[in-house]
Amino acid sequence: IPEIEMPGHGLAALTAYPWLGCTGGPYAVWTHWGISDDVYCAGKETTFEFIEDVLTEVLALFPSKLIHIGGDECPRVRWKECPDCRARMEDEGIEDEAGLQTYLTLRIGRHLEAKGRRLIGWDEIMEGGLSPEAVVMSWRGTQGGIAAAREHHHVVMTPGQYLYFDKRGTDSPDEPVSLNLSLPLEKIYGYDPAEGLSEEEQQYLLGVQANLWTEFMATGKRVEYQLLPRIYALSEIAWSPVARKSWEEFSRQRLPAYLARLDAEGAAYQVPQPHGIREETLEGGCFRFTIRPPFPGCRVYYTLNGATPYDFDREVPGELEVIVPRGEQRVLKCVAVTPAGRRSMVVTT
Ligand code: ACM
Ligand code: ZN
Repeated sequence: IPEIEMPGHGLAALTAYPWLGCTGGPYAVWTHWGISDDVYCAGKETTFEFIEDVLTEVLALFPSKLIHIGGDECPRVRWKECPDCRARMEDEGIEDEAGLQTYLTLRIGRHLEAKGRRLIGWDEIMEGGLSPEAVVMSWRGTQGGIAAAREHHHVVMTPGQYLYFDKRGTDSPDEPVSLNLSLPLEKIYGYDPAEGLSEEEQQYLLGVQANLWTEFMATGKRVEYQLLPRIYALSEIAWSPVARKSWEEFSRQRLPAYLARLDAEGAAYQVPQPHGIREETLEGGCFRFTIRPPFPGCRVYYTLNGATPYDFDREVPGELEVIVPRGEQRVLKCVAVTPAGRRSMVVTT
């Protein structure tokens, strides 16, 4: 399914065709990422001609029933000042700028429907009301998707807190530069997209999607690293009945088999960290840790002096006791090493 973003995130189009914006420009393509206040003018007819022309070309290329029109992260400040946008609002009896975005979404939706297609957009498209045919992709959490299903709109769940694979896998400072938010594999696996929906409402749930935005990804290998092995958890979320899901079985049986296949392919992936320890600071004099390998066959090595643990360091015993004399501190670092010799991120407590 192609996504042609509108009315925000279109600065490259505005740069090429400045009359599509409220101020007329000049605009410049950004060399960094973010959200620009300059968006398509929803007042001018030329904007609609342009978008419909682009979509006509897109429809010739993509046979999908659903066509994604974006709709997210569109500041409406230019619309407040623009005479064309104000005139449109007056002519159409539109009360606020959210309603103006709804006008654009409805109009583009009708254009797609006339060509036998269906509009899908990010959950912002619901803000000023939505045409019954439109499909909602819930990314700002699950509430948008739940609200949409209650109003009998089809939805795709892709909530940021569970399914944004551009987030880092752990809180380790050694993770490659990423969004400063972490998303552990177990949290992904535990997500149930039907959560909060009645049986009747669940018929509107089309499925799930994970997003992997590449602002921080310099190479294809890096994308692979963010994606693997998370995509296997996504598959079970999408296709396994909740009653048949088991984190224990997934992480200890299926995951090692997947990783062995990835080893054979030479893929980049995130090695699961040891269980029973996490990135945190503890206070006290005596600690007992029960640290387990992430799956059978992995080994876990540790140090207590702040050094990075290597495969020639001590292996964690079944129970590790750490005594910290009054006024002192200890830094416990653990790493998991897979049968193929791949290392996890180090966990520091
Ligand atoms: C989004 O992540 N802006 C849909
Ligand atoms: Zn305007």
